[in-house]
Amino acid sequence: MEFRQLLPQPETVAADQLLGQLRRDLQAPAERPYTLVNFIASADGRATFAGRSGGLGDDGDRAMFHGLREQVDAVMVGTGTLRAERYGRVLGRPERRERRRSRGLTPEPLACIVSRSGDIPDIPLFAEPEARAIVFVPRGTDIDLRDTAAQIELTRLDPGELTLTTVLRRLRAEHDVEVLLCEGGPMLFGGLLQERAVDELFLTLAPKLTGGGTEHTITSGPELPELQPLSLRWLLERDGSLYLRYRLR
Ligand SMILES: NC(=O)c1ccc[n+]([C@@H]2O[C@H](COP(=O)([O-])OP(=O)(O)OC[C@H]3O[C@@H](n4cnc5c(N)ncnc54)[C@H](OP(=O)(O)O)[C@@H]3O)[C@@H](O)[C@H]2O)c1
Repeated sequence: MEFRQLLPQPETVAADQLLGQLRRDLQAPAERPYTLVNFIASADGRATFAGRSGGLGDDGDRAMFHGLREQVDAVMVGTGTLRAERYGRVLGRPERRERRRSRGLTPEPLACIVSRSGDIPDIPLFAEPEARAIVFVPRGTDIDLRDTAAQIELTRLDPGELTLTTVLRRLRAEHDVEVLLCEGGPMLFGGLLQERAVDELFLTLAPKLTGGGTEHTITSGPELPELQPLSLRWLLERDGSLYLRYRLR
């Protein structure tokens, strides 16, 4: 699928080709994965409409969303997003899994779920025998994922140790995750920003208005102590949607 690149230089680019080069210049820090975050927002800044993000996007956004997944070692999500978006397997299309295999990656990224309550929604992903997931919860939470078909590792941490910094450190040290994609939601993104654990933001700006209401924006939780500046790495356009790739400074 083709996009019109406006920056850094005007040209037509194919999404899979552009994203296929993504890992080339990414250098993961020693203590955590290089962390990308991907969101879509309406032109008036909302991350959902009627409780979900799906209606904001089009096939271009879906191509970026799945193209990013194809490049990374793990995909991290909060339980609010799992519940709203009913996550299925991370890469549904066999050709994407085949391309990963041919590059020496696992066929699908590891799904990474974090929860303080231990209330993990029963999602279609858990019924997929080939899916791999790791779930981080505090010790003492009542949770049983043994009857799921997917390969799930449950990691129980002392409540005081369950920070996103710890989760990322363990993904890097124990699961070989060099590039992580966080797909939200807003609370998880806010938490990662608080812990200064984000390297890049991929933001689709959809040419749609929600018109008000109280739906999510792409971050939630406490405000940062200072504004977080961003540098624009690329700007693409397709069918009126803008695709911004920012580096956090
Ligand atoms: N526009 C977009 O691109 C986009 C992307 C993603 C999501 N969304 C939308 O966002 C909405 C969900 O928002 P949300 O903010 O509730 O979602 P969320 O961030 O996915 O989930 C929040 C939950 O994740 C867990 N969590 C978050 N930070 C944690 C931390 N630091 N440590 C441990 N657990 C943590 C907690 O789970 P427990 O409650 O289990 O403790 C928390 O209640 C949905 O409507 C979804 O459609 C939009």
